[in-house]
Amino acid sequence: MDDQSGAGSSHLWIEPGHDIAQFRAAVVAGLARADKALPCKYFYDEIGSRLFEQICTLAEYYPTRTELAILDDRAEDIAAAVAGTVSVIEFGSGAGHKVRRILDHLAGVQAYLPVDISREALLAAAARLDDDYPRLAVMPVWADFTKPFALPDGLPPGPRLGFFPGSTIGNFSPAEASEFLAASRAVLGAGGHFLVGVDLVKDARVLEAAYDDALGVTARFNLNLLARINRELHGGFDLGRFRHVARYDRADQCVRMWLESLVEQTVRIGETAFRFRRGERIHTENSYKYTIENFQVVAAQAGWHPTACWTDPARLFSIHLLG
Ligand code: AVI
Repeated sequence: MDDQSGAGSSHLWIEPGHDIAQFRAAVVAGLARADKALPCKYFYDEIGSRLFEQICTLAEYYPTRTELAILDDRAEDIAAAVAGTVSVIEFGSGAGHKVRRILDHLAGVQAYLPVDISREALLAAAARLDDDYPRLAVMPVWADFTKPFALPDGLPPGPRLGFFPGSTIGNFSPAEASEFLAASRAVLGAGGHFLVGVDLVKDARVLEAAYDDALGVTARFNLNLLARINRELHGGFDLGRFRHVARYDRADQCVRMWLESLVEQTVRIGETAFRFRRGERIHTENSYKYTIENFQVVAAQAGWHPTACWTDPARLFSIHLLG
């Protein structure tokens, strides 16, 4: 389907099957488990996307500013390494700020395809990019990039650059990351490159502060998942009866987030009732951290060749170019 209502002259390519029934099924299945869990992709409704934008500006949340600094410092090197790119495909484009650092330095790019599950964020970002880069064909793809999706007709032929910033790769388990990287190789095609932002292993205190900030924005972001269930699925969560928890597991090199029930309670979602013990948790997110070498191994397992890696002086964050 081609919906031209939202984003200026650009095209909204709608993937079929992204709907409320899927959300309900995922929530009911996740809360019926003995170890309750909800998929982190549902954080990003309009409110969640705005809260995430706020997280990215927090003092404790170093990944965004560090990655932007690396992109700025290394823009020329990146442009030289991916010269000849015709289309840039961004997986999970959000507000679309970071890609500008690439587009500003890449000569010859004809098309930019932001792919995102949040329709509002996608349309708003696509419209801004459309205005600011008049010679670029902005072709937004409304899709869940964790699943196979089709590229729109009319994509110019030629080498593609995938862009996956923000260490969103860390929200997959290493096995899922390898699967995703292998699938992205098929999307990006022969001669394609993939630029991936990857958060690095570091001190537990720095990591836990980044996911449990003093202003409580990450707590609101996490709790918004329950508020979204209330809004969209007629859920009965009392947000005051849950708390946000974030912990770094050194053995797994992973920050995990949960929503913990403060009391014993029963919560209804539509017709279905879910019991919670006091202290029982709903797992909501994994955020895996990597060493440079560990990530290169995962990429190589997926068939990519690690071409280059750039990092900041404090080695907080890394950007990998795969070819
Ligand atoms: C989107 N993703 C890479 C973020 C992260 O750091 O794992 C999501 C996030 N969760 C809490 N703070 C930020």
